[in-house]
Amino acid sequence: MKILTVVGARPQFIKAAAVSRAIAHHNEGRPRRAIEEVIVHTGQHFDHNMSQTFFDELSIPAPKHHLSIHGGGHGQMTGRMLEQLEAVLLEEQPEWVLVYGDTNSTLAGALAAVKLHIPVAHVEAGLRSFNMRMPEEVNRIVADRISSLLLCPTAQAVANLRREGMAEGVFHVGDVMYDAAMFYGDRAAADAAVLNRLQLKAGEYVLATCHRAENTDDPLRLCGIADALNELSKLMPVVLPLHPRTRKTLQSQQIALLPGVRVCDPVSFLEMVCLERAARLIVTDSGGVQKEAYFYGVPCVTMRDETEWVETVHAGWNRLAGARCDAILEAVTAFTNGVLPPRPPLYGDGNAGASIVTRLAAQA
Ligand code: UD1
Ligand code: UDP
Repeated sequence: MKILTVVGARPQFIKAAAVSRAIAHHNEGRPRRAIEEVIVHTGQHFDHNMSQTFFDELSIPAPKHHLSIHGGGHGQMTGRMLEQLEAVLLEEQPEWVLVYGDTNSTLAGALAAVKLHIPVAHVEAGLRSFNMRMPEEVNRIVADRISSLLLCPTAQAVANLRREGMAEGVFHVGDVMYDAAMFYGDRAAADAAVLNRLQLKAGEYVLATCHRAENTDDPLRLCGIADALNELSKLMPVVLPLHPRTRKTLQSQQIALLPGVRVCDPVSFLEMVCLERAARLIVTDSGGVQKEAYFYGVPCVTMRDETEWVETVHAGWNRLAGARCDAILEAVTAFTNGVLPPRPPLYGDGNAGASIVTRLAAQA
Protein backbone atom coordinates (compact mmCIF):
# COMPACT_ATOMS: atom_id res chain seq x y z
CA MET A 1 0.00 0.00 0.00
CA LYS A 2 1.50 3.30 -1.05
CA ILE A 3 0.86 6.42 1.03
CA LEU A 4 2.07 9.86 0.08
CA THR A 5 2.68 12.21 3.01
CA VAL A 6 2.71 15.97 2.45
CA VAL A 7 4.58 18.10 5.00
CA GLY A 8 6.11 21.57 4.87
CA ALA A 9 6.03 23.39 8.21
CA ARG A 10 7.85 22.79 11.52
CA PRO A 11 4.97 21.27 13.52
CA GLN A 12 4.19 18.91 10.65
CA PHE A 13 7.65 17.36 10.80
CA ILE A 14 7.14 16.55 14.48
CA LYS A 15 3.68 15.07 13.84
CA ALA A 16 4.85 13.10 10.80
CA ALA A 17 7.78 11.67 12.79
CA ALA A 18 5.32 9.88 15.08
CA VAL A 19 3.40 8.36 12.17
CA SER A 20 6.50 7.41 10.14
CA ARG A 21 7.81 5.58 13.19
CA ALA A 22 4.48 3.74 13.51
CA ILE A 23 4.58 2.83 9.81
CA ALA A 24 8.09 1.38 10.23
CA HIS A 25 6.86 -0.61 13.24
CA HIS A 26 3.86 -1.87 11.24
CA ASN A 27 6.15 -3.07 8.44
CA GLU A 28 8.49 -4.83 10.89
CA GLY A 29 5.52 -7.01 11.90
CA ARG A 30 5.53 -8.41 8.33
CA PRO A 31 1.86 -7.55 7.60
CA ARG A 32 -0.02 -8.96 4.63
CA ARG A 33 0.48 -5.58 2.94
CA ALA A 34 3.39 -3.41 3.99
CA ILE A 35 2.97 0.36 3.79
CA GLU A 36 5.30 2.27 1.50
CA GLU A 37 5.50 5.91 2.57
CA VAL A 38 6.63 8.57 0.12
CA ILE A 39 7.30 11.91 1.80
CA VAL A 40 6.89 15.20 -0.06
CA HIS A 41 8.31 18.36 1.53
CA THR A 42 6.65 21.43 0.04
CA GLY A 43 9.49 23.66 1.25
CA GLN A 44 7.17 26.02 3.16
CA HIS A 45 9.69 26.11 6.03
CA PHE A 46 13.23 26.03 4.79
CA ASP A 47 15.80 27.43 7.25
CA HIS A 48 17.97 24.62 8.59
CA ASN A 49 16.66 25.13 12.12
CA MET A 50 13.03 25.18 10.91
CA SER A 51 13.28 22.04 8.77
CA GLN A 52 16.36 19.81 8.35
CA THR A 53 17.10 19.80 12.10
CA PHE A 54 13.82 17.95 12.68
CA PHE A 55 14.50 15.34 10.00
CA ASP A 56 17.92 14.66 11.52
CA GLU A 57 16.96 14.69 15.18
CA LEU A 58 13.67 12.78 14.84
CA SER A 59 14.99 10.31 12.21
CA ILE A 60 12.25 11.18 9.75
CA PRO A 61 12.76 9.41 6.39
CA ALA A 62 14.21 11.82 3.82
CA PRO A 63 11.61 13.37 1.51
CA LYS A 64 11.63 11.82 -1.96
CA HIS A 65 10.33 15.08 -3.43
CA HIS A 66 11.30 18.55 -2.26
CA LEU A 67 9.29 21.31 -3.92
CA SER A 68 11.19 24.30 -2.46
CA ILE A 69 8.09 26.49 -2.42
CA HIS A 70 7.97 29.22 0.21
CA GLY A 71 7.08 32.86 0.67
CA GLY A 72 4.63 34.93 -1.32
CA GLY A 73 0.99 35.48 -0.46
CA HIS A 74 -1.35 32.67 0.52
CA GLY A 75 -2.70 32.33 -3.01
CA GLN A 76 0.70 32.29 -4.63
CA MET A 77 2.17 29.79 -2.17
CA THR A 78 -0.82 27.44 -2.21
CA GLY A 79 -1.22 27.72 -5.97
CA ARG A 80 2.40 26.84 -6.67
CA MET A 81 2.15 23.91 -4.28
CA LEU A 82 -1.03 22.67 -5.96
CA GLU A 83 0.58 22.68 -9.37
CA GLN A 84 3.68 20.80 -8.30
CA LEU A 85 1.87 18.38 -5.99
CA GLU A 86 -0.45 17.39 -8.82
CA ALA A 87 2.56 16.42 -10.93
CA VAL A 88 4.07 14.41 -8.07
CA LEU A 89 0.78 12.62 -7.42
CA LEU A 90 0.40 11.70 -11.07
CA GLU A 91 3.94 10.31 -11.03
CA GLU A 92 3.65 8.43 -7.71
CA GLN A 93 0.03 7.20 -7.99
CA PRO A 94 -0.42 6.68 -4.23
CA GLU A 95 -3.47 4.93 -2.80
CA TRP A 96 -3.80 7.55 -0.03
CA VAL A 97 -2.52 11.04 0.71
CA LEU A 98 -1.76 11.90 4.33
CA VAL A 99 -1.87 15.54 5.46
CA TYR A 100 -1.31 17.12 8.87
CA GLY A 101 -2.80 20.07 10.68
CA ASP A 102 -3.83 23.33 9.07
CA THR A 103 -1.07 24.99 7.08
CA ASN A 104 -1.04 26.00 3.44
CA SER A 105 0.85 22.74 2.75
CA THR A 106 -2.10 20.84 4.30
CA LEU A 107 -4.61 22.61 2.10
CA ALA A 108 -2.57 22.15 -1.08
CA GLY A 109 -1.93 18.46 -0.37
CA ALA A 110 -5.58 17.70 0.31
CA LEU A 111 -6.88 19.71 -2.65
CA ALA A 112 -4.39 18.31 -5.16
CA ALA A 113 -5.25 14.75 -4.09
CA VAL A 114 -9.03 15.02 -4.01
CA LYS A 115 -9.11 16.53 -7.50
CA LEU A 116 -7.30 13.44 -8.73
CA HIS A 117 -9.77 11.21 -6.81
CA ILE A 118 -7.07 10.06 -4.43
CA PRO A 119 -8.54 9.69 -0.90
CA VAL A 120 -7.13 11.96 1.78
CA ALA A 121 -6.45 11.14 5.44
CA HIS A 122 -6.29 14.23 7.66
CA VAL A 123 -4.34 14.00 10.90
CA GLU A 124 -5.57 16.58 13.47
CA ALA A 125 -9.02 16.71 11.90
CA GLY A 126 -11.90 18.52 13.56
CA LEU A 127 -10.06 21.31 15.35
CA ARG A 128 -11.83 24.65 15.29
CA SER A 129 -11.09 28.13 16.60
CA PHE A 130 -14.34 29.50 15.10
CA ASN A 131 -12.34 32.46 13.83
CA MET A 132 -12.54 32.54 10.05
CA ARG A 133 -9.96 35.34 9.85
CA MET A 134 -7.28 32.79 10.75
CA PRO A 135 -5.76 31.23 7.63
CA GLU A 136 -5.45 27.99 9.61
CA GLU A 137 -9.22 27.85 10.25
CA VAL A 138 -9.96 28.09 6.52
CA ASN A 139 -7.31 25.49 5.72
CA ARG A 140 -8.56 22.97 8.26
CA ILE A 141 -12.26 23.36 7.40
CA VAL A 142 -11.55 22.76 3.71
CA ALA A 143 -9.16 19.88 4.44
CA ASP A 144 -11.72 18.19 6.69
CA ARG A 145 -14.51 18.60 4.16
CA ILE A 146 -12.54 16.86 1.39
CA SER A 147 -10.91 14.12 3.49
CA SER A 148 -12.18 10.55 3.63
CA LEU A 149 -10.41 9.64 6.88
CA LEU A 150 -10.71 12.23 9.63
CA LEU A 151 -8.24 11.36 12.36
CA CYS A 152 -9.19 13.41 15.42
CA PRO A 153 -6.88 14.15 18.36
CA THR A 154 -9.63 14.97 20.90
CA ALA A 155 -13.26 14.24 21.75
CA GLN A 156 -13.96 17.94 21.10
CA ALA A 157 -12.66 17.57 17.54
CA VAL A 158 -15.06 14.66 16.93
CA ALA A 159 -17.92 16.75 18.32
CA ASN A 160 -16.97 19.70 16.08
CA LEU A 161 -17.14 17.48 13.00
CA ARG A 162 -20.43 15.96 14.07
CA ARG A 163 -21.87 19.46 14.41
CA GLU A 164 -20.84 20.11 10.81
CA GLY A 165 -22.55 16.90 9.69
CA MET A 166 -19.42 14.77 9.39
CA ALA A 167 -19.52 11.36 11.04
CA GLU A 168 -18.38 8.91 8.36
CA GLY A 169 -14.67 8.12 8.41
CA VAL A 170 -14.23 10.03 11.68
CA PHE A 171 -12.00 8.37 14.28
CA HIS A 172 -10.79 9.58 17.67
CA VAL A 173 -7.19 8.37 17.56
CA GLY A 174 -5.46 10.65 20.09
CA ASP A 175 -2.80 13.26 19.54
CA VAL A 176 0.38 12.44 17.64
CA MET A 177 2.13 15.29 19.46
CA TYR A 178 1.46 13.47 22.71
CA ASP A 179 3.15 10.43 21.11
CA ALA A 180 6.17 12.65 20.41
CA ALA A 181 6.14 14.01 23.95
CA MET A 182 6.07 10.47 25.38
CA PHE A 183 8.74 9.18 23.03
CA TYR A 184 11.19 12.06 23.24
CA GLY A 185 10.36 13.57 26.63
CA ASP A 186 12.88 11.59 28.65
CA ARG A 187 15.61 11.90 26.06
CA ALA A 188 15.24 15.66 26.17
CA ALA A 189 15.36 15.67 29.96
CA ALA A 190 18.79 14.08 29.78
CA ASP A 191 20.05 16.82 27.50
CA ALA A 192 20.12 19.97 29.62
CA ALA A 193 22.91 21.57 27.57
CA VAL A 194 20.47 24.11 26.16
CA LEU A 195 19.81 25.51 29.64
CA ASN A 196 23.54 26.02 30.16
CA ARG A 197 23.93 27.54 26.71
CA LEU A 198 21.19 30.08 27.41
CA GLN A 199 22.33 30.53 31.03
CA LEU A 200 18.98 29.49 32.47
CA LYS A 201 18.19 27.81 35.77
CA ALA A 202 15.43 25.19 35.86
CA GLY A 203 12.19 26.61 37.28
CA GLU A 204 13.45 30.20 37.14
CA TYR A 205 12.54 31.45 33.69
CA VAL A 206 9.59 32.02 31.38
CA LEU A 207 9.63 30.37 27.96
CA ALA A 208 7.91 32.40 25.24
CA THR A 209 7.09 31.83 21.57
CA CYS A 210 5.18 34.03 19.13
CA HIS A 211 4.50 33.57 15.43
CA ARG A 212 0.75 33.74 14.71
CA ALA A 213 -0.14 36.01 11.80
CA GLU A 214 -2.90 37.59 13.91
CA ASN A 215 -0.19 38.77 16.33
CA THR A 216 2.77 39.48 14.07
CA ASP A 217 0.76 41.27 11.38
CA ASP A 218 -1.00 43.62 13.83
CA PRO A 219 1.44 46.19 15.26
CA LEU A 220 -0.87 46.91 18.21
CA ARG A 221 -0.96 43.25 19.22
CA LEU A 222 2.77 42.73 18.64
CA CYS A 223 3.57 45.80 20.75
CA GLY A 224 1.29 44.51 23.52
CA ILE A 225 3.14 41.19 23.48
CA ALA A 226 6.57 42.85 23.44
CA ASP A 227 5.55 45.08 26.37
CA ALA A 228 4.38 42.04 28.33
CA LEU A 229 7.61 40.10 27.69
CA ASN A 230 9.65 43.17 28.66
CA GLU A 231 7.68 43.53 31.92
CA LEU A 232 8.02 39.81 32.70
CA SER A 233 11.77 39.97 32.09
CA LYS A 234 12.06 42.39 35.02
CA LEU A 235 10.84 39.54 37.28
CA MET A 236 12.78 36.64 35.77
CA PRO A 237 14.56 35.83 32.51
CA VAL A 238 12.34 35.28 29.48
CA VAL A 239 13.73 33.05 26.75
CA LEU A 240 12.28 33.61 23.29
CA PRO A 241 13.27 31.19 20.50
CA LEU A 242 12.22 33.48 17.72
CA HIS A 243 10.28 32.36 14.64
CA PRO A 244 11.69 34.01 11.46
CA ARG A 245 8.34 35.64 10.75
CA THR A 246 8.40 37.46 14.09
CA ARG A 247 12.08 38.37 13.84
CA LYS A 248 11.40 40.09 10.54
CA THR A 249 8.40 42.02 11.90
CA LEU A 250 10.07 43.10 15.13
CA GLN A 251 12.92 44.47 13.02
CA SER A 252 10.77 46.19 10.41
CA GLN A 253 8.46 47.72 13.06
CA GLN A 254 11.46 48.64 15.24
CA ILE A 255 9.87 47.03 18.30
CA ALA A 256 12.52 46.68 20.99
CA LEU A 257 12.93 43.92 23.56
CA LEU A 258 14.85 44.43 26.79
CA PRO A 259 18.07 42.44 27.38
CA GLY A 260 16.19 40.34 29.98
CA VAL A 261 14.31 38.83 27.04
CA ARG A 262 16.88 36.36 25.77
CA VAL A 263 16.12 36.11 22.10
CA CYS A 264 17.62 33.10 20.34
CA ASP A 265 17.19 31.34 17.02
CA PRO A 266 14.58 28.57 16.80
CA VAL A 267 15.83 25.55 18.72
CA SER A 268 15.65 21.85 17.89
CA PHE A 269 12.72 19.77 19.13
CA LEU A 270 14.70 18.07 21.91
CA GLU A 271 16.03 21.43 23.05
CA MET A 272 12.53 22.86 22.99
CA VAL A 273 11.15 20.01 25.06
CA CYS A 274 13.98 20.56 27.52
CA LEU A 275 13.17 24.29 27.71
CA GLU A 276 9.47 23.58 28.14
CA ARG A 277 9.89 21.02 30.91
CA ALA A 278 12.15 23.24 32.99
CA ALA A 279 10.19 26.49 32.52
CA ARG A 280 8.36 28.11 35.41
CA LEU A 281 5.70 29.21 32.96
CA ILE A 282 5.09 29.25 29.21
CA VAL A 283 3.70 32.23 27.30
CA THR A 284 2.87 31.42 23.69
CA ASP A 285 0.57 31.73 20.71
CA SER A 286 1.60 28.35 19.32
CA GLY A 287 -0.87 25.47 19.10
CA GLY A 288 1.72 22.78 19.72
CA VAL A 289 3.44 24.59 22.57
CA GLN A 290 0.13 25.09 24.45
CA LYS A 291 -0.37 21.34 24.47
CA GLU A 292 3.22 20.50 25.32
CA ALA A 293 2.91 22.81 28.34
CA TYR A 294 -0.01 20.65 29.46
CA PHE A 295 1.82 17.39 28.73
CA TYR A 296 4.74 18.48 30.93
CA GLY A 297 2.65 20.12 33.66
CA VAL A 298 3.79 23.69 33.03
CA PRO A 299 1.14 26.45 33.27
CA CYS A 300 0.54 28.25 29.99
CA VAL A 301 -0.67 31.73 29.10
CA THR A 302 -1.91 31.81 25.52
CA MET A 303 -1.59 35.12 23.69
CA ARG A 304 -4.65 34.56 21.55
CA ASP A 305 -8.37 35.33 21.81
CA GLU A 306 -9.41 31.72 21.28
CA THR A 307 -7.85 28.28 21.12
CA GLU A 308 -8.53 24.99 19.39
CA TRP A 309 -7.19 23.16 22.45
CA VAL A 310 -10.04 24.15 24.76
CA GLU A 311 -9.49 21.14 27.05
CA THR A 312 -6.30 22.68 28.40
CA VAL A 313 -8.24 25.83 29.37
CA HIS A 314 -11.10 23.84 30.93
CA ALA A 315 -8.57 21.80 32.90
CA GLY A 316 -7.21 25.02 34.41
CA TRP A 317 -3.70 24.80 32.93
CA ASN A 318 -4.06 27.31 30.11
CA ARG A 319 -5.34 30.90 30.27
CA LEU A 320 -6.38 32.85 27.19
CA ALA A 321 -5.04 36.37 27.52
CA GLY A 322 -5.23 37.89 24.04
CA ALA A 323 -2.39 40.24 23.16
CA ARG A 324 -2.84 43.12 25.62
CA CYS A 325 0.07 43.65 27.99
CA ASP A 326 -2.06 44.02 31.12
CA ALA A 327 -4.14 40.93 30.32
CA ILE A 328 -1.03 38.81 29.75
CA LEU A 329 0.54 39.98 33.02
CA GLU A 330 -2.73 39.39 34.87
CA ALA A 331 -2.92 35.81 33.58
CA VAL A 332 0.70 35.19 34.62
CA THR A 333 0.01 36.54 38.10
CA ALA A 334 -3.11 34.39 38.44
CA PHE A 335 -0.96 31.31 37.79
CA THR A 336 1.86 32.31 40.10
CA ASN A 337 -0.61 32.96 42.95
CA GLY A 338 -2.92 30.01 42.36
CA VAL A 339 -2.88 26.28 43.08
CA LEU A 340 -2.67 24.11 40.00
CA PRO A 341 -5.44 21.54 39.50
CA PRO A 342 -4.98 17.85 38.56
CA ARG A 343 -4.07 17.06 34.95
CA PRO A 344 -6.37 14.39 33.48
CA PRO A 345 -5.10 12.59 30.35
CA LEU A 346 -6.78 14.38 27.44
CA TYR A 347 -4.72 13.44 24.43
CA GLY A 348 -4.66 9.64 24.30
CA ASP A 349 -2.10 7.13 25.48
CA GLY A 350 0.91 7.95 23.29
CA ASN A 351 -0.17 5.51 20.55
CA ALA A 352 -2.02 7.83 18.19
CA GLY A 353 0.50 7.08 15.41
CA ALA A 354 -0.18 3.34 15.70
CA SER A 355 -3.97 3.94 15.65
CA ILE A 356 -3.60 6.04 12.52
CA VAL A 357 -1.60 3.31 10.79
CA THR A 358 -4.19 0.71 11.82
CA ARG A 359 -6.96 2.83 10.29
CA LEU A 360 -4.98 3.37 7.11
CA ALA A 361 -4.08 -0.30 6.76
CA ALA A 362 -7.77 -1.21 7.22
CA GLN A 363 -8.58 0.84 4.09
CA ALA A 364 -6.51 -1.44 1.88
C1 UD1 B 1 2.98 28.58 9.19
C2 UD1 B 1 1.50 28.17 9.23
C3 UD1 B 1 1.01 28.23 10.67
C4 UD1 B 1 1.90 27.43 11.60
C5 UD1 B 1 3.35 27.85 11.43
C6 UD1 B 1 4.23 26.93 12.24
C7 UD1 B 1 0.20 28.76 7.24
C8 UD1 B 1 -0.79 29.69 6.68
N1 UD1 B 1 0.69 29.09 8.44
O1 UD1 B 1 3.04 29.93 9.60
O2 UD1 B 1 -0.30 27.70 10.73
O3 UD1 B 1 1.48 27.64 12.92
O4 UD1 B 1 3.73 27.75 10.06
O5 UD1 B 1 5.47 27.49 12.51
O6 UD1 B 1 0.52 27.78 6.62
N2 UD1 B 1 10.27 31.95 7.02
C9 UD1 B 1 11.64 31.95 6.99
N3 UD1 B 1 12.27 30.74 7.19
C10 UD1 B 1 11.60 29.60 7.41
C11 UD1 B 1 10.20 29.62 7.47
C12 UD1 B 1 9.54 30.82 7.27
O7 UD1 B 1 12.28 32.96 6.76
O8 UD1 B 1 12.23 28.53 7.57
C13 UD1 B 1 9.56 33.20 6.74
C14 UD1 B 1 8.84 33.11 5.38
O9 UD1 B 1 9.65 33.44 4.33
C15 UD1 B 1 7.70 34.08 5.57
C16 UD1 B 1 7.40 33.99 7.06
O10 UD1 B 1 8.53 33.40 7.68
O11 UD1 B 1 8.14 35.38 5.29
C17 UD1 B 1 6.15 33.19 7.35
O12 UD1 B 1 6.28 31.84 6.88
P1 UD1 B 1 4.97 31.02 6.45
O13 UD1 B 1 5.34 29.61 6.22
O14 UD1 B 1 4.23 31.73 5.39
O15 UD1 B 1 4.01 31.12 7.71
P2 UD1 B 1 4.30 30.82 9.24
O16 UD1 B 1 4.11 32.08 9.99
O17 UD1 B 1 5.56 30.10 9.39
N1 UDP C 1 9.34 24.05 18.44
C1 UDP C 1 10.69 23.72 18.30
N2 UDP C 1 11.61 24.73 18.34
C2 UDP C 1 11.27 26.03 18.53
C3 UDP C 1 9.89 26.36 18.68
C4 UDP C 1 8.96 25.35 18.61
O1 UDP C 1 11.03 22.55 18.14
O2 UDP C 1 12.16 26.88 18.55
C5 UDP C 1 8.34 22.98 18.38
C6 UDP C 1 7.41 22.92 19.56
O3 UDP C 1 7.99 22.17 20.63
C7 UDP C 1 6.18 22.24 18.98
C8 UDP C 1 6.17 22.77 17.55
O4 UDP C 1 7.48 23.24 17.29
O5 UDP C 1 6.34 20.84 18.95
C9 UDP C 1 5.17 23.87 17.42
O6 UDP C 1 5.34 24.51 16.20
P1 UDP C 1 4.92 26.01 15.94
O7 UDP C 1 4.79 26.74 17.23
O8 UDP C 1 5.83 26.54 14.91
O9 UDP C 1 3.51 25.85 15.21
P2 UDP C 1 2.01 25.58 15.70
O10 UDP C 1 1.99 24.42 16.60
O11 UDP C 1 1.52 26.85 16.33
O12 UDP C 1 1.28 25.36 14.42
